[in-house]
Amino acid sequence: MTNAALGGSFRQINQLNRTDMHADLEELVSLTKGLFVTFEGGEGAGKSTQMRLLADSLSGRGYDVLTTREPGGSLGAEAVRHVLLSGAAESFGVRMEAILFAAARSDHVEEVIRPALQQGRIVLCDRFMDSSRVYQGVTGNLEPGFVETLERVAVNGVIPDRTIIFDLPAEAGLERARRRSNEEPDRFEKEQLETHEKRREAFLDIAEADPERCCVVDATLPPEVIAAEVLRLVEALLPGDGEPQSSRVEAAS
Ligand code: TYD
Repeated sequence: MTNAALGGSFRQINQLNRTDMHADLEELVSLTKGLFVTFEGGEGAGKSTQMRLLADSLSGRGYDVLTTREPGGSLGAEAVRHVLLSGAAESFGVRMEAILFAAARSDHVEEVIRPALQQGRIVLCDRFMDSSRVYQGVTGNLEPGFVETLERVAVNGVIPDRTIIFDLPAEAGLERARRRSNEEPDRFEKEQLETHEKRREAFLDIAEADPERCCVVDATLPPEVIAAEVLRLVEALLPGDGEPQSSRVEAAS
């Protein structure tokens, strides 16, 4: 089947009753590949809102979209989330925290992300491996080799097709994060402004080193302008006729 024919039937099936069309859908799913998009940046950059807006736009066009987040996103990873964000693991050191983030990521990848991509879904994830590179690697001062090894084991071949980095001055981000939340700042939000600025630089360095995967978006722009840009960046990876595609998902080793 050509891409054009496949794209056409993909959209059609999404408009029909899924139960009636189950057999056709399965046949189609085995022919399509998923798309993995991650949202990264400092605190209060608006990633979560933009991820929801993108999910709505893509769902409205008939795509099968899964939204998820880290740390968490699977049963095992959600169990570890509280330990990390409450600061319960902090006194055991950054290595311990990094390993816990990696353990949570591995569960999330194998239980949720890889299966969804194999079913041809579009997966949108609020934070992923770049957060570990930045928070544990750069501002946690962990040795690069240690961080790279953990990353390789945790992602096990599942690399984002596109990573959107939301960039804004740390002070503005922290101010937004404070305003939006009635809760106490979490373990990572509590850190010094200087640390948050370092993270901003580290995300920009990642983008510079991997321009094919990473795109930086100015998070100080109005939300509707950012939403249009995010949609454009993701649409660029979808063939005009509707088939999500990815070349980066491999079978688990
Ligand atoms: P969360 O409450 O999910 O919010 P947000 O993404 O809006 O900041 O907080 C997740 C926190 O965990 C955030 O401060 C970044 C941190 N984090 C790491 O330190 N390493 C990681 O690998 C991930 C995924 C998150």
